[in-house]
Amino acid sequence: MKKLISIVGVRPQFVKAAMVCAAVAGHNQKHAREQRVKHLLLHTGQHYDYEMAAVFFQQLPLPAPDFNLGVGSGTHGAQTAMMLKGIEKVLLKEKPDCVIVYGDTNSTLAGALAAVKLHIVTAHVESGLRSFNRRMPEEINRIATDHIADLLFCPTRAAVKLLEHEGIRDNVYFTGDVMLDAVKTFLPVASRRSVALTDLGVSPGKFILATIHRAENTDSLERMRGIVETLCGLEHPTVFSVHPRLREKLNHEAAYQKLGRELARARHLKMVAPLSYLDMLHLESSARLVMTDSGGVQKEAFFVGTPCLTLRDETEWTETLHDGWNKVAGVSPRKVLPLARELWAGGRPRTKPALAAFGDGKAARNILDSLLELNAKKKAS
Ligand code: UD1
Ligand code: UDP
Repeated sequence: MKKLISIVGVRPQFVKAAMVCAAVAGHNQKHAREQRVKHLLLHTGQHYDYEMAAVFFQQLPLPAPDFNLGVGSGTHGAQTAMMLKGIEKVLLKEKPDCVIVYGDTNSTLAGALAAVKLHIVTAHVESGLRSFNRRMPEEINRIATDHIADLLFCPTRAAVKLLEHEGIRDNVYFTGDVMLDAVKTFLPVASRRSVALTDLGVSPGKFILATIHRAENTDSLERMRGIVETLCGLEHPTVFSVHPRLREKLNHEAAYQKLGRELARARHLKMVAPLSYLDMLHLESSARLVMTDSGGVQKEAFFVGTPCLTLRDETEWTETLHDGWNKVAGVSPRKVLPLARELWAGGRPRTKPALAAFGDGKAARNILDSLLELNAKKKAS
């Protein structure tokens, strides 16, 4: 593999790809020119606000994208179609040996589809995750990507098993989770550099951190009513990072504006624009409790040892449920608020989170080694 292209587009993909970029950079430093790997970055432009994109390029070992398609927001069909067209053009010109896609977003699906149709080896990082809820756009993206990609890089052994159940057995690798690599690398940096606690006026161990962005929640007025009642009913300082998807609704959709006013009136709630990655890590590790519907934030809470309530009806990341570190709480205040009270009052699990399920913190290196090994085998045959 002389030339790789990573395709990214949204906030968590910048984090994941940064670790692969760092692994490639480490490899290139140690090897002579002929063994080096060229790694290009294609940003679809799915996320584009400063806090959703550029800040990650400033804080993480991510070079500026070699290509930015500037696709922006849109309906699923229109957005994915624009990405497909733009990605195909780049791939035809660059002719990479391998395309790497990450996670389960529209950028993932478009990248995988464009690459496999051009017979370019396609690798899926974070393969084998399932919620078994086909109403989630992410579930469709994951299933489709796993079934068309050539190389499946799984973050956990459960993911390997899930693929096996779907008949996918070849070229499946347990690599560990690149997000654990990122937390191991950047949590110490975040603890040194972040001044978010002071800026937000909260003290370690004395606040709750919340995020909400999943379409299944934000696009359902009924579920959002439950979430808003829950957030307003909390009895402790709560930092609520508001994703632009929800911001748009609270500001511009009549049915949601009332909810926006309720949130604004709740004095314990600090509603903030999306936080930078380092601030987010620092807050996750300093909070007494995390409440979220995010996949990445659930995992990070587990990695840093902060209990989490997942405001969804299921989770793909079942390993985080270990010993009650994460609880699938749904969105009804009648269920969530008592759980929050219990955790706040000290109902922390007694054991440490079992991080080994997510590998050894060297997932990106494992991914690169697998790619290089495959290449060596191909050359030898
Ligand atoms: C996307 C992914 C989701 C992932 C999330 C990470 C899909 C289908 N969804 O959801 O799986 O968990 O990213 O955060 O790929 N917007 C802005 N500025 C931005 C980006 C978005 O204002 O920089 C607003 C727009 O109104 C847009 C809405 O947010 O319509 C949704 O953005 P989109 O990229 O479609 O999906 P996400 O909800 O961000
Ligand atoms: N994140 C961040 N700032 C925030 C919220 C999240 O930097 O205000 C980071 C978080 O630390 C994690 C990633 O974004 O690394 C998770 O992305 P998100 O919740 O948007 O999507 P998901 O993981 O659910 O796909």
